[in-house]
Amino acid sequence: MQKKIVYLSLIVFVAIVAYQVFLKATEKEIHPLTKSWEKAVPQQQVPQGLASLSSQQCGACHVKHYEEWQYSTHSHAWTDMQFQAELKKESSPYLCINCHVPLQNQQEYIVTGLIDGDIYQPVKHKNPDFDKNLQQEGINCASCHVRDNVVIGSTGTSKAPHKTKKDPAFLSEKLCLSCHNAKAVVTSALVCSFETGDEWKAGPFYGKKNCISCHMEPTQREIVAGFGERPSHLHYFAGSGIPKVKGAKTKMLNGLSFFPSKLEKSYAVNQTISYHLKLKNEFAGHRVPTGDPERFFGISFELVDENGKAVAKKTDRIGEKWEWYPAAKKLEDNNMNPGEERTFAFAYKTTEKQKLTLAVKVTKNRLDKKSADYNKLTDSYPLGITVFDEKYPIEVK
Ligand code: HEC
Ligand code: HEC
Ligand code: HEC
Ligand code: HEC
Ligand code: HEC
Repeated sequence: MQKKIVYLSLIVFVAIVAYQVFLKATEKEIHPLTKSWEKAVPQQQVPQGLASLSSQQCGACHVKHYEEWQYSTHSHAWTDMQFQAELKKESSPYLCINCHVPLQNQQEYIVTGLIDGDIYQPVKHKNPDFDKNLQQEGINCASCHVRDNVVIGSTGTSKAPHKTKKDPAFLSEKLCLSCHNAKAVVTSALVCSFETGDEWKAGPFYGKKNCISCHMEPTQREIVAGFGERPSHLHYFAGSGIPKVKGAKTKMLNGLSFFPSKLEKSYAVNQTISYHLKLKNEFAGHRVPTGDPERFFGISFELVDENGKAVAKKTDRIGEKWEWYPAAKKLEDNNMNPGEERTFAFAYKTTEKQKLTLAVKVTKNRLDKKSADYNKLTDSYPLGITVFDEKYPIEVK
């Protein structure tokens, strides 16, 4: 009897030890966050002298800056219909939001580490100071201007009612690059790939013009009414000019110059109508398109008869082509380098006497229709804009 009890306790003891060894072996390891986009900008207190961190509040005094920022896609970085559609997918990791609503104040959860280093297993808890209104503002004034609970500026002016710190090195293109240059494999089927910063560094504008000189045009003005003029910067962050919502205010920069060839007004039967359009990436400090890999330019030539029926058609494309499944792979990339020229040609041999019109169009596109349908984006999300639109009447005699 006693022997039995000894054996039994021995078995129980061994089982407990074995279980503990098993637990230790399968224990999850919490990895710290390392890359900048894995982390939110630390929670900020409202700077002394202010009532809130919201852009709307800053706009009460900085009226022009606020008005301009509303034109920018930065102000849509959270509400963007495509972003919201993608965020809902299981394949989108928590870190998507770190460049779109960068302040911890704008995020519902605080992420402190990754279980086994896996971006799909963040260690998170509710943020007690989460501010939903700030989240709606996307990349707002405070996202770029408030650090260590003070307003960062480039002069450290003592005229401001809020605590201000001079830090021009912080407010440099490095700030832009922290979000606009990311090359990371998220999963085999999902990569972050935009290299606007690297493209700029490799191009002819490096050392002459930077993100800020082109996208935040310098000007001289009062930054708050009644405080006198000083050097300032427009805050439109003008870019592709493709609006985020139908009818939204936007400001466009054009990277391309267009050089169309001449066309005769009349041609003989069996003669060849030939036309070309030369494009030059003259004004962008990086490739065009840049950034999001789904962006592209479409070039289309369409020759139509008097009834509007197409007798000849040709389309070309500037952009990247990716295969996303089973593994993300770039198949093609003919984006135009700064300074690069490219000619697109159209030719048609006439067959009969008739009146024709050659329509030539260049469009700038955020994404194609197929991808928009896949994400169930509605018509209120504009996919592109037209940047060159010419019609040439031709008579075949
Ligand atoms: C009550 C009015 C008021 C509010 C609200 C306000 N500011 Fe200011 N701010 C000023 C004034 C006044 C100046 C100094 C004007 C000058 O130097 O000409 C200033 C200066 C600045 C500067 C320049 C600092 C420098 O170093 O030159 C920045 C940047 C700035 N504010 C950002 C913000 C941001 C961001 C917010 C919102 C979080 C904000 N301000 C809210 C009044 C305000
Ligand atoms: C020499 C001026 C210049 C410089 C320098 C420059 N850009 Fe641009 N950028 C442009 C122009 C022009 C466009 C419009 C291109 C187009 O769509 O026709 C543009 C477009 C963009 C776009 C919109 C995407 C697109 O394909 O239209 C982003 C994003 C952008 N720039 C970010 C940056 C960043 C970040 C930097 C700094 C690394 C930078 N730019 C430097 C002129 C410049
Ligand atoms: C994407 C980042 C970014 C956002 C968003 C942003 N700013 Fe700025 N802002 C800058 C940079 C960079 C400078 C400094 C440029 C320099 O001095 O070279 C600046 C400069 C300023 C200045 C100093 C005067 C001037 O115009 O140069 C004020 C004031 C200012 N910002 C207010 C605001 C307000 C108000 C908002 C929101 C409505 C805002 N900013 C949003 C990046 C940003
Ligand atoms: C916190 C991250 C972040 C920072 C910092 C930032 N950007 Fe952006 N930027 C974005 C995101 C995200 C978008 C796109 C938002 C959208 O389309 O929903 C964007 C859009 C833009 C666009 C418009 C692209 C288009 O479609 O036309 C330009 C231009 C631009 N940023 C320039 C700048 C410049 C210049 C700076 C530095 C002063 C800067 N950004 C700093 C994240 C950032
Ligand atoms: C490293 C910063 C960063 C991270 C992380 C990031 N984005 Fe962005 N996102 C940007 C910038 C910058 C743009 C501006 C557009 C551009 O460069 O063409 C942008 C634009 C977008 C756009 C608008 C595209 C367009 O053509 O207008 C969508 C949608 C988007 N991001 C979704 C996501 C999703 C989903 C994730 C997570 C998988 C994510 N982003 C993670 C920086 C980031």
